[in-house]
Amino acid sequence: MQIYLNENLSAYHTFGIQQSCQVLVVVDTVAELMDVYRRPEWQSLPKIVLGKGSNVLFTEFYQGVVIINRLRGIDVREDENHYFLHVQGGEDWPELVKWSVSQQLPGLENLAMIPGCAGSAPIQNIGAYGIEFQDVCDYVDYLCLKTFQVIRLSRAECSFGYRDSIFKHRLYQQAVVVGIGLKLAKAWQPHLKYGPLQQLAGNCSPTEVFDCICDIRTRKLPDPKQVGNAGSFFKNPVLTEAQFQTLAANYPDVVSYPASSGVKVAAGWLIDQCGLKGFQIGGAAIHEQQALVLINCQHATASDVIRLATHVYRCVHEKYGVALEHEVRFIGRSSEVYLDMWLKEQQS
Ligand code: FAD
Ligand code: EPU
Repeated sequence: MQIYLNENLSAYHTFGIQQSCQVLVVVDTVAELMDVYRRPEWQSLPKIVLGKGSNVLFTEFYQGVVIINRLRGIDVREDENHYFLHVQGGEDWPELVKWSVSQQLPGLENLAMIPGCAGSAPIQNIGAYGIEFQDVCDYVDYLCLKTFQVIRLSRAECSFGYRDSIFKHRLYQQAVVVGIGLKLAKAWQPHLKYGPLQQLAGNCSPTEVFDCICDIRTRKLPDPKQVGNAGSFFKNPVLTEAQFQTLAANYPDVVSYPASSGVKVAAGWLIDQCGLKGFQIGGAAIHEQQALVLINCQHATASDVIRLATHVYRCVHEKYGVALEHEVRFIGRSSEVYLDMWLKEQQS
């Protein structure tokens, strides 16, 4: 285990905001992970596990222990109809997808280039281009922080939803994902429903789908190595049918998709139609190619990003009456915090 005190977090998250933490540890085994939670000197400190930090914003100095998950290893088994991959939580997700496609283990290609670790994928049930993690998930193994046992949940037990899972609810702060099981059908079928993928022929190969997705993502989304960001800053809001009809009556061009519990609206469209592309506060700005992405374009502080996010929230709420919810997880001094806090502060 590597231990660092008062460590700068720049290398451990993708927003590129200058922020530090009291203790940072890099763990390579489940035994080390347990050790971190059991050490008497860190017992009273808050703790957070990170993969690649591509979905977090540290809003201030973190007065606790940041645990970097670097549990590595991939096992592959197969039966007549499926390949089964067991992947340790600290494996790099985009590398895993690339490797699986090159090894003729198809099924993950639509989830190419999503930054992060394998162990983070179930937390928000990552999704892109017509599929979600739940579509390839067999099981999730987590370390229970009450019993220190590793427990296996079946896909059904994970309560996956849009950017949602049991790890954000019943198991919040009680579980560290240490491994995932993926089940990939040998009888591969391409998922080509998402707009730009429809240009591919039905008999295309997994590599062609992979390449097409990498091409779309490279054009649309900023590379965190060049420009700090955390992907979509807000979730696409899911409205009731009645709320959607009211919105669509005023804005007939609104981009929407059917969702299991209503109608999902493209938040990027809502923000774009507010004329906010390129809008900047301090060093933080709305990305020119994708209005749903907030970027660190000029040494942004966390406060710049929060002020910009607050502005976006207000513009969208005022214009459409739709309340956006941030997808990016805000990590405060000792716990997770939410944009509501700043919105309420400004109201009072
Ligand atoms: P982190 O940011 O390190 O952690 C995210 C949250 O999960 C934190 O609350 C953390 O405490 C918790 N967590 C992390 N690991 C564990 C663990 N092992 N056990 C328990 N809790 C844990 N997301 C999509 O769904 N689809 C996309 O298309 C997409 N595109 C993106 C594009 C860009 C350019 C960027 C920067 C981000 C994008 N994202 C996307 C968001 C991000 O890639 C995903 O949320 C990813 O799963 C985060 O992985 P991570 O390892 O970086 O998680
Ligand atoms: N749009 C605009 N202007 C914009 C952005 C989008 O008008 O600036 C409209 C376009 O009409 C476009 C539609 O919104 O057709 C949807 O945009 P896009 O296809 O780029 O997808 P998204 O809804 O903005 C979601 C996910 C992404 C995921 C893509 C592809 C969320 C919050 N975001 O974005 O995930 O990669 O679909 O499936 O669901 C992430 O979660 O970090 C992320 C990047």
